[in-house]
Amino acid sequence: MIRLNQNEFNQIIEYMRDTYGINLEKKKVLIECRMTKELKRLGVNSFAEYMNLLRRDKDGKLAGQMVNRLTTNYTYFMREPVHFEILERTIFRELFSQKAFGIGNIWCAGCATGEECYTLAMALEEYKANRGQLADARILATDISDEVLQMARKGVYSEKELDALPTGWKQKYCKRVNENYFAVVESLKSNIRFRNHNLMTPISNPAKFDLILCRNVMIYFDRDSRRKLVRLLEESLNPGGYLLIGHAELLSADETELESVYPAVYRKKKQPA
Ligand SMILES: C[S@@+](CC[C@H](N)C(=O)[O-])C[C@H]1O[C@@H](n2cnc3c(N)ncnc32)[C@H](O)[C@@H]1O
Repeated sequence: MIRLNQNEFNQIIEYMRDTYGINLEKKKVLIECRMTKELKRLGVNSFAEYMNLLRRDKDGKLAGQMVNRLTTNYTYFMREPVHFEILERTIFRELFSQKAFGIGNIWCAGCATGEECYTLAMALEEYKANRGQLADARILATDISDEVLQMARKGVYSEKELDALPTGWKQKYCKRVNENYFAVVESLKSNIRFRNHNLMTPISNPAKFDLILCRNVMIYFDRDSRRKLVRLLEESLNPGGYLLIGHAELLSADETELESVYPAVYRKKKQPA
C-alpha cells in the first residue's frame, strides 16, 4: 500500500474539501487503501507525484477517478421510510394540487446508484394511480461520481435489494433479467434524467424545484461546505417547495431559512400574496 505523509494528506484533504465539500480529515487509511490501486495504474509511486498529475489534469479524468474512489455511495431502496409516508400523505398531495394538470419538478441530489430516485419514482406512480392524478412530475437525479451514475442509469438490482420495497412494487416496476437480477421498467426510467453535478456549484435547470431530496450527502461535508450546500438548495427551491435531508443531518434554525415541518423535512416559505 502507498502511504501518505502529512503534507500529502493535507493536500488531498484540502482538494476534496475545496472542490467537492467532502471532509476526509479522519480518513487517512481509507485514502491510502482506496487510492493505491489508482496510483499504481498511473505508474506513480507517491501521493506527491499523484497530486502533481492531478493539478495538470485538464480534462478532469483524474479528478473523476478520485471522486469515484473516495466518495461513500452507500444507499438502499426505501431508505428512511418515514419520508415516503410523508411524501404520500402530504407532499405529493400539495405538489399535485398546485400543479393541477402541469408538471412538477423533483431533484434527487446525491442519488448514488439510483435506489433512492427509483423508490421515489415508484412512490409517485403509486400515488398517481391511487388518486387518479393527471398531473405528473419529472425527476432529475444527480451525483458527482460517474461510476455510480452509470449504475443508476442501468437500473439493475439484485432480488435481495428489491425485497426492501413494499409488497407488489417489485412485480409492478421491475422485470427479471436473470436468475438473481431485475431491471427497473423503462416507463419508470424514462421519467428520470441522470446527470453529473457537483453540489458545491449552482444547478442549472430550466425551472426551480418543488421537491428536493438531498439525503445522507452533507453528513460527509465540513461545516462551511454544508452551509454553502444548504444555501444553494434553498435557492433552487420554488416557494412552498420541500427539502428532505437525512435524519442524521438535521439543520438548526440558524443554518437554514427554511421552516422545519417534520424531522428532516423543510419547506421554503410561500411568497406573500
Ligand atoms: C451516501 S450516498 C447517499 C445516497 C442517497 N441519497 C441515500 O440517501 O441513500 C452520498 C452520495 O453523495 C454523493 N456526493 C458527495 N459529494 C457530492 C458533491 N459535492 N456533489 C454531488 N454529489 C456528491 C456521493 O458521490 C454519494 O453517491
